[in-house]
Amino acid sequence: MNSFHIQPQVFFGDDAMDRLLELKGRRVFVVADPFVVKSGAIALVTDRLARCGAEHTVYSEVVPDPPIESVAQGVVALGGFGGDTMVAIGGGSAIDSAKLIREFRKRIDPSAPAMRLIAIPTTSGTGSEATNVAVVADTQAQVKIPLMSDDLTPDEAILAVELVKSVPPPLTADTGMDVFTHALEAIVSRAGSDFSASFAARAIEIVGTYLLRSYHDAGDLEARSRMHNASCLAGMAFNASSLGLNHGMAHALGARFHLPHGRANAMILPHVIGFNSGVCAQTRECASGCRAVSGYVAAARLLGLQTLDAVTAVRALVRWVEFMLAEMGMPKGVSQAGVCSESEYRAAIPAMADAAVADHCTAGNPRDATVDDVRRLYEALW
Ligand SMILES: NC(=O)c1ccc[n+]([C@@H]2O[C@H](COP(=O)([O-])OP(=O)(O)OC[C@H]3O[C@@H](n4cnc5c(N)ncnc54)[C@H](O)[C@@H]3O)[C@@H](O)[C@H]2O)c1
Ligand SMILES: [Fe+2]
Repeated sequence: MNSFHIQPQVFFGDDAMDRLLELKGRRVFVVADPFVVKSGAIALVTDRLARCGAEHTVYSEVVPDPPIESVAQGVVALGGFGGDTMVAIGGGSAIDSAKLIREFRKRIDPSAPAMRLIAIPTTSGTGSEATNVAVVADTQAQVKIPLMSDDLTPDEAILAVELVKSVPPPLTADTGMDVFTHALEAIVSRAGSDFSASFAARAIEIVGTYLLRSYHDAGDLEARSRMHNASCLAGMAFNASSLGLNHGMAHALGARFHLPHGRANAMILPHVIGFNSGVCAQTRECASGCRAVSGYVAAARLLGLQTLDAVTAVRALVRWVEFMLAEMGMPKGVSQAGVCSESEYRAAIPAMADAAVADHCTAGNPRDATVDDVRRLYEALW
């Protein structure tokens, strides 16, 4: 039996942040990205909480790609404050931290009152505000672990464009390609359905039209706001289906060499599209009926790419990804990312391949991948 439901309730539009004015009488634990505090954007939350008389405290010890230790520190801070509402404001790292802090607190003390979680993303990328996933890093084992439970899903999301105006071009590129990867993996996922595909399709169309506009002109508020919607839509899409091998490989690569999540996803995309579809530069035929190929053909059409048949559509999709990487100054492979030497990278491949195959996300990939397949993909990624 399959089912489909949507959480969170989404507030968007010019006055979306005013939802916080309705928290009168609440005791609010705010989990904030340090950038949000430093830039003063936190006032958009705290001023409203003060105006409506909600007691609150701000916890901002959030670390990018949150490690277990930093989540544990947050659980202790929450225990000292209590509260009935949590507001998470920041990128995926802050929202994932908040999800985990709330969940671990509940498990440690089941008698603690239930907390409502309101997520306010400040990047347009992870869609974490709309998913049951939180990624935690085990820094000792050098792996990132995506934890999944519907108990993690935020109750509400606020999409406020004023918070993403400050995102610099490289972060716009990384997070924007993360949105695209979410939507593409959702559309070809084994667990996909008409419901998830409709959210994914809209996200792909929006990325095709608005990502480069956001990248080249930070002040283009229409583009920024559409990309913010696309990020949430793509989150809803993969939440209702799954991610795939691309994310499994990106988690292992990011945990080992500290590459930004979206950048890792983006450089892996051409390789995984080729693997899943069986289409490479030399191919003339492919299994046009298979889920991966039909999903990639649909994506190519949504991007408005000119295609003759399934093979040219998949090739055009790969070329589009490569074009986006070049246009936004993103590395095409690990050698261009400047994070390690070739020998360090090649030595890490066996462990990364094992981690990628074991990653929760990989199970949703439309084609089974063996450890040897993944090793070959990492080899080609240098
Ligand atoms: N839960 C999910 O469904 C899900 C999905 C995909 C990825 N993730 C995880 O999310 C994390 C990545 O999140 P992210 O890509 O949003 O980056 P991030 O949250 O790690 O933030 C990256 C950097 O951008 C800064 N930043 C945040 N907002 C900004 C703004 N408005 N202006 C300028 N700088 C800003 C942060 O301070 C940080 O230094 C990874 O750990 C990834 O594994 C989670
Ligand atoms: Fe992602």
